[in-house]
Amino acid sequence: MEKFKVGIAGLGVVGSGVVRNVRSQADLLASRSGCAFDITTIAVKDPSKSRDLDTTGIQIITDPLQIARDPEIQIVVELMGGTGLARELVCESLRNGKAVVTANKALLAECGEELLALAASSRKPLCFEASVAGGIPILKALREGLIANRILSLHGIINGTCNYILSQIAQTGASYADSLAEAQKLGFAEADPTLDVEGYDAMHKTIVLAALAYGFWIPQNLVRVEGISRLQNEDFSYAKMLGYTIKLLGTIRSHDDGAVEAHVSPTFIPRSHVLASVGGSFNALSVRGDVVGDTLYYGRGAGSNPTASAVISDMVEAALALSGGVALRPCATHSLYAKVRPFDETSSAYYTRLSVLDQPGTLAKISAVFAEHNIGISSVFQPKEHPGDFVSLILLSDRALERDYRGAIATIERLPVVSGSAAAVRVEEFES
Ligand code: NDP
Ligand code: HSE
Repeated sequence: MEKFKVGIAGLGVVGSGVVRNVRSQADLLASRSGCAFDITTIAVKDPSKSRDLDTTGIQIITDPLQIARDPEIQIVVELMGGTGLARELVCESLRNGKAVVTANKALLAECGEELLALAASSRKPLCFEASVAGGIPILKALREGLIANRILSLHGIINGTCNYILSQIAQTGASYADSLAEAQKLGFAEADPTLDVEGYDAMHKTIVLAALAYGFWIPQNLVRVEGISRLQNEDFSYAKMLGYTIKLLGTIRSHDDGAVEAHVSPTFIPRSHVLASVGGSFNALSVRGDVVGDTLYYGRGAGSNPTASAVISDMVEAALALSGGVALRPCATHSLYAKVRPFDETSSAYYTRLSVLDQPGTLAKISAVFAEHNIGISSVFQPKEHPGDFVSLILLSDRALERDYRGAIATIERLPVVSGSAAAVRVEEFES
């Protein structure tokens, strides 16, 4: 039995789950992996905070870099969040010959390439399974299980907070603000929940997924991000009437010219699709490989125990690598894909909600603009609940280029028969 000394930076939602479960699963981990873990040191911001956790025998410190410099510690687990001090900790730990485990997707999206290069030159593992989809071992699936595949597409519900909020609104009619407060209370949300609701957390995860799937790190400014905060309750009702549900999707797709598209957007998905039934803080990813076809991964994407499950799996992987085991490269670069398709050149079907003058000829004017931009309309729906001068008009378009659709919407918004801005949401039909 080999025993590994571990230092952890962060004892919040995830850190406390790791400490609790490393203890409770110690026998299981030992018999399965031959490894034991001795958590010697934990760095926190406020050591006086009361914690529902017994830390007897663990040194509690306030300077995380002390962990990186402790010659006894072999595995450093970064669970603080942020990209400043966390980056310093990871870099210094790798330089000092330690294995590193992190759940920090913001850090990876910002400097994953640099950190993995440093890990490679230090010949030490940098493991980050918990950074995407909490307890679902999706990175291992992409790296190992699907190694024989070119990844054709990946659609992921990868933010538990947003999925919790969207499910609450759709299923119980709860308000956006109450649902967000509940998600925060349950420990799903980031310290700054703007990262969740504006789509940035899902964007960070999309970048990590794309690095695994396509072997290169997409710069953050090339991933179009839209969050859920601008969705209106009426869009949920219309989605339901039309046979859809709204999910925040991270989408990655490869094209024949070798370009990869990556974006995060609220998306209408058919209620008959398996992703539509993923509720609460659950995450799910649908991955299409050229050899395997369609695969699906489902589980809890946030919270203390699910995330701890992934972190501990990485601690075992790090320990095995330190004791001489072979570790697959986390994201091997390859020549298949290396460029990003601009968002304007991606295509989708679209849901559009307009406020329009309730008079003959209005629909003709709007459909003429769509036609001028080469966009077909597959369905039109005018709810009659609140007749008046202006009424809602709902349209579903055929698949169109984002650039053409945005051009059409800009023109439509200027029509005298249209009031205010259009609500526009992508529609994903998951065609084969
Ligand atoms: P929390 O805010 O619950 O915990 C953060 C911890 O880090 C706290 O213990 C805090 O100390 C400590 N900390 C923060 N800054 C410092 C500092 N400067 N020096 C020392 N300690 C510091 O965050 P989470 O546990 O939710 O998240 C941790 C990481 O895991 C983040 O990167 C997050 O994105 C990621 N993650 C979170 C998931 C979740 O479900 N919550 C799921 C997957 C990944 P103190 O306790 O004293 O305040
Ligand atoms: N805030 C994140 C979420 C935590 O809600 O999904 C898990 O990464």
